[in-house]
Amino acid sequence: MKFFIDTADVDEIREWNSTGLIDGVTTNPSLILKSGRQIDEALAEICAIVDGPVSGEVTAIDTIGMISQGKTLAKIADNICIKLPLTMDGLKACKALSDEGFKTNVTLCFSANQALLAAKAGATYISPFIGRLDDINIDGMELIEEIRAIYDNYGFETQLLAASLRTANHVKDCAIAGADVATIPPSTLGKLVAHPLTDKGLAAFLADWEKTGQSIG
Ligand code: E4P
Repeated sequence: MKFFIDTADVDEIREWNSTGLIDGVTTNPSLILKSGRQIDEALAEICAIVDGPVSGEVTAIDTIGMISQGKTLAKIADNICIKLPLTMDGLKACKALSDEGFKTNVTLCFSANQALLAAKAGATYISPFIGRLDDINIDGMELIEEIRAIYDNYGFETQLLAASLRTANHVKDCAIAGADVATIPPSTLGKLVAHPLTDKGLAAFLADWEKTGQSIG
């Protein structure tokens, strides 16, 4: 499973990219607001840091406007992925941009039928939002399982990009369900590595090693 980092904070992206564990980046208008940056400057800087796809979201709501904004964003760097909302206009823009060879990420997906339509529109990625479904007491992980089954049934090449992940368990469950990508906020990424028994075990090993009086190298 690929890991994308879900932020427009350049410092956090640089730090996590240096681990070698990050395969791409997703942003959205709310994350751009939080960063306090101009979208074109932030995306250009992020694209220079990370080798993989960097999603930048259009804000037009009509097909022509989305195509135009998408092409403007794509000029920023070769690794820009154009993020489009899952509306009928967004699907039409996705089809047009995908047919022209642009990478596309269809976002705000909350149902399996929406994901089926995005695949038929040639989306590179579909972004089902797990956390926001959980927020309204609908099991977001069921949606991941449904989309996985549908895409596998028909051999769709659209990659299942699990989004709106809030917890370490979300990440684990997405991996078990076969999501191609998980986009993860930096705070949740940090939680994946930590385990109290790792810390406790390491402290014990180091204490015993000290008692041996030995050194390596
Ligand atoms: C990523 O593509 C999405 O925009 C993001 O994961 C949404 O997460 P949220 O529901 O926590 O805002």
